[in-house]
Formats: sequence, C-alpha cells, structure tokens
Amino acid sequence: YVIGVDLGTSAVKGILLNQDGDIVLEVSKEYPLIQEKDGYSEQDPKEWIDKTTEALKELVDKFSGDVSSIEGISFSGQMHGLVLLDEEKKVLRNAILWNDTRTTEQCKQIYDLVGEERLLSITKNPALEGFTLPKILWVKQYEPELFKQASVFMLPKDYLRYVMTGTIHSEYSDAAGTLLLDIAKKEWSKEICDVVGISSRLCPPLVESTAQVGTITEDFSRKTGLSKTTKVFAGGADNACGATGASILSDGKTLCSIGTSGVVLSYEQTKDRDFGGKVHYFNHSKEDAYYTMGVTLSAGHSLSWFRDTFAKGESFETFLEGLSNVPIGSNGLLYTPYLVGERTPHADAVIRGSFIGMDASHKRIDFARAVIEGITFSLRESIDIFRKAGKKIDQIISIGGGSKNDTWLQIQADVFDAKIIKLKNEQGAAMGAAMLAAYGCGWYASLEECANQFVHYDKFFEPIENNVKKYNELFALYQQVYKQTKELNAGLKSFRK
Ligand code: XUL
Repeated sequence: YVIGVDLGTSAVKGILLNQDGDIVLEVSKEYPLIQEKDGYSEQDPKEWIDKTTEALKELVDKFSGDVSSIEGISFSGQMHGLVLLDEEKKVLRNAILWNDTRTTEQCKQIYDLVGEERLLSITKNPALEGFTLPKILWVKQYEPELFKQASVFMLPKDYLRYVMTGTIHSEYSDAAGTLLLDIAKKEWSKEICDVVGISSRLCPPLVESTAQVGTITEDFSRKTGLSKTTKVFAGGADNACGATGASILSDGKTLCSIGTSGVVLSYEQTKDRDFGGKVHYFNHSKEDAYYTMGVTLSAGHSLSWFRDTFAKGESFETFLEGLSNVPIGSNGLLYTPYLVGERTPHADAVIRGSFIGMDASHKRIDFARAVIEGITFSLRESIDIFRKAGKKIDQIISIGGGSKNDTWLQIQADVFDAKIIKLKNEQGAAMGAAMLAAYGCGWYASLEECANQFVHYDKFFEPIENNVKKYNELFALYQQVYKQTKELNAGLKSFRK
C-alpha cells in the first residue's frame, strides 16, 4: 500500500491505495484561513501538522491490514507558501500563502534589482505577489528582527514532511514557484539570492519529487501508528501532482483543475519554451519534464464564498440544484472572479470581482450559474494564451471541484471549445502524490506505467456548436469587465478592510 497526502488550502486529504491503484481509504480534515487585512492570507503551520496527524491516525486506525505493509508515503502541497524556521527549526511566524497579495512593492524591488529580462531567463516567470521570494523580502523589510532569526525557508508540504521525517529538503516542482530556482539548471540561483540580499543558506537542499528523503520518525510513528519503516518520498507542488494524478505526462496533454484556485496547465517536454512570462512555467513532478500554467486565484473559492455568504450550511449539491435549467448567460448576469485580485491574464492585486447586469428577476441560482461561468471564462483566458502561442488544445482532463458537476463540465466543454474528460474515482493531487510513492517504491518502471494502471477515464463532454457560439459572444463581454472596472476598484481600495 501507499499513502498520498494533499496539503491543500482549505483541507488536508489522505488516501490509501493498493498496488492496483484502488482507493482503499480516504480521509480529509479542514483548517481555516487567517485573513486579517485586505490582501493578507495566512495559515498556522501547526494546524497543518495537527490535522495531518489526525488524518493519518484515522487512516491507520481504519486500515485492516498490517501497518508495515504501507510501504511508502508522499505529498502534494499548496504552492508558494512561505514557512520560516529558526536555528532550532521552530516556526517563526504564520505561513504567508499563495493567495496573499501584500507584496506588490517587493515584486517591484525584484524587478529593479534582478531586472525583468534576467529574472525571466533564470526563473522563466515574472515577479508575482503570490510567489515565495516577494514574501521573503516582505518579512525581511517589515519584520527584520524576526527575519534575522531565520535559518531556512520551507514550502508548506516540505515543512510537513520535515516534521514527519526530521530531514529538510525541497524538490524541483515546488522550488520552481519560489522565483529563486534556475528552472533549466535545477539549482537555486545564487545570482538572485545575492542581488536581492538574502543568504542562499536559507534555501533547503533540492531533490527530485520521487526521491526518498527518509522514513517516519519515532515520534510521528507514535502519534499516528504509521510504521517507522514507511518510506517517505519528497512529493510535489499540488498542480504538478494534479497533473501526474491525471496522467498529464506527455506532450499534448492539458489539465483543468478547479480547487480553491483554478488552473489550466499543459505538459511541456522542454525547459525552454517561451511564453514571455504570460503564463507560469514550472518543473513537473516527473523528472526533467515541465508544464505551463495559468492561474485563477479565486475559482472554487468564488463558489464557496458565494455559498457560505448566501446559503451557509447548504451542500454544494443542494446549492446547485436547478443549475442546468438556467440558460447560458445566467439570464444576463456576468461575474468576474477577482475576490483576492488576479494572476492570469491580469497580474493585478488591486482588482476585485463584480456582478454585472443584476436584475429584479434574478434568483440565487442565476447568481450561482454566473459565478460558475465567470470562473470558467477566467480559465479560458489562459487557454487562449496557450493557443495563441501555438499549442493545440482540443481535449482537457478536468479534475477538482469543477469536475463534480456534469452541468459545469459541459460549460467547460462549451467555453473552452474542447472535449472535456472526467476521470473515474478522481482524487486530484492526492492521487499524484500516491503515484510518486508507488513509483518511488519501485512498483513501476515509470510514472506513465503507473498512470496506465491507476488513472481511468469515466465520461466525455463534447463542445456543442451552438453553445460555443453563444459563449464566445458572452466571453467578449466578460473580457471587457476587467478593463472597465479597473479604475473603479483602485478607487475603492482605501475603503477595504
Ligand atoms: C499556483 C497557485 C495555486 C496553489 C493552490 O501557482 O498559486 O494553484 O498551488 O494550492
């Protein structure tokens, strides 16, 4: 058996798989976001540890087999979050997360110091608020006393793995999202560290996602019941693991993943395809492979925000009843999902969302459909960037919350004008994490072979010509909302929390 752990933004999820790739057990534990000020988004790493410990203990307790037959465990984690540890490896402050946008000033500093062209050539990515380096510089600038005590920075799932094993590492797929990695050379960029004025000693040693980095400590074994002999593999960024878990492991394969954030990502075999920084370019969790990706910051977050604000306590199933009866265009209602600013295609921390076209006849379900259409339009903008750069995108595997509802899957097919594939028993990034452990344990000769065994297609959603036409019209209107609300939002900024 192997375990895959996905340390997400709203919850940690653990799955236990047998050698055929069947999901034997599944547990999940939620934790909150801390949002004290406009643009701030933090979490207490202790919550991650406590909830993961609880989740793993529950998995082990429910497991009827011999615990030493759980051969390996690996991880997927929310990307970019900054965890700072002192000399004693104690957490110095709350983690600053990927959807925290307080660092616009630090992004400018990075451009001034490194130079945009040089930054793009080393990291393949622009300076964006969500990435880790601007967060490090923010702490250095605004919490200098605390920063002086820092001995190493870690990414969320790397910190979790450290607590479980006692060994400190990062791996390429998550390191790629820090703005400190030389993506092609697969090493920390001493040049960037030097010019921005941080010690390269803060950067943890790098390994492959599939590398074994240790076994379970005595203490963690006692707390969870996991065997001390269980092999622990490095794991990967959640989007890289989402891709692996959906068999996005060769050219021509594209994924749409809607969790708290939403991404579309497409496999890249080479380290040097040029999108001019318009979309992210990161190392995959498959060795020496890459992917390009566009990000909607508030995708599932938009829908959960709307439900929690206007229908607290309702399940998504009940909340979305009647969705398919609302016509395309939500009876004239448009939504833009910029609840915490946006990443792709508008790298803009100040913009906020809108409902345009509210009418006295609108019901709650019209709003829900508008939210879903708005999220999907935002992801379409990333697909358009891929297509303009010459990528052929005619079929997309859809995972996450966005794939739980058939009406939404059809909306994806129509808005993206591509065939949408839904997976059987889809487990998102946790599946990718489990596959990294299965491969690491030597069960398969390659991740592709593992995917053949573990990942199966369930249903297909074909684009419907007339719907595609209607959505194209609506998408043109959607694209105008950003431009037309940009200044308004800048004016409203001072009224925010
Ligand atoms: C990717 C990103 C998000 C997080 C969500 O760049 O910021 O998708 O990885 O966990």
